[in-house]
Amino acid sequence: MLSDALEDDLESFFDKKLISKSKRKTLADGFKKNKVINEVLDKSTIMTLYNMLRTHIVSYINGIVRAGKESVIFWAVDENERDIALKVYLVTTSNFKRRTSYIIGDPRFSRVKKGTRSLIDLWAKKEYRNLKQCYNRGIPVVKAIHVTKNILAMEFVGENGVPAKTLIESEVDKKDYDSAISILKNLYKDAKLVHCDFSEFNIFKTDKGLILFDLGSAVDLRHPNANEFLKRDIKNISTFFAKRGLTVENPSDVLIRIQK
Ligand SMILES: Nc1ncnc2c1ncn2[C@@H]1O[C@H](COP(=O)(O)OP(=O)(O)OP(=O)(O)O)[C@@H](O)[C@H]1O
Ligand SMILES: [Mg+2]
Repeated sequence: MLSDALEDDLESFFDKKLISKSKRKTLADGFKKNKVINEVLDKSTIMTLYNMLRTHIVSYINGIVRAGKESVIFWAVDENERDIALKVYLVTTSNFKRRTSYIIGDPRFSRVKKGTRSLIDLWAKKEYRNLKQCYNRGIPVVKAIHVTKNILAMEFVGENGVPAKTLIESEVDKKDYDSAISILKNLYKDAKLVHCDFSEFNIFKTDKGLILFDLGSAVDLRHPNANEFLKRDIKNISTFFAKRGLTVENPSDVLIRIQK
């Protein structure tokens, strides 16, 4: 453990670094209120990252893998040299309102605190819980490792900091279609979840088969719109495989089969 004084020193060291990087000279602690650096690294996020380093969840961070609208994915490494993906949920997203419809109505998250910041932290926690819930039921999802505030640590799928290819980036065949539908079914039957963003962009195709990720939106089956979301998931994935020239089952038959 580090002493409080050392922690304070480190905190001010980070602050100074950030000031010089951003060429901001205004505030004593280097952060304008609610100011965000490079759209990601507000002070709280930096401190969360720093705490993950301090508590040995990761030992170093190699760099950014992908910067999206709602999150940034970092490639990090743990003490055993295992690759870790850190998903940092952006605190600046303008899209957070969209998320409320996937939280309110899910009985697992009945107590939603007001404010963007807590909603974003809750979203990270929700993705973590969804991943665990699936992983524990043997559904092929990315293995979640840890969550603190708006940062989710998970197993890195890929090599040398390059993520595995998703379905959209891969050649696909009938086996992939069958496997995708079977994942949807097991999610529903065994994990009691609907993904809500089940698509060719959120499934890795690896040597070991398909691996599902991006489960922040997934809801409990008791959510009042769960069936509508399931219908949409089936429709989206069927459209993708049909566009790739494969014969797919009628989506409404798939729905009946999954819900039977
Ligand atoms: N565990 C992981 N291992 C390796 N790469 C990952 C991992 N998780 C995510 N990625 C990479 O980051 C990209 C975005 O991840 P994800 O879909 O979870 O974030 P997102 O914020 O929902 O982004 P988008 O809005 O584009 O869907 C993935 O397409 C993949 O390339
Ligand atoms: Mg995604």
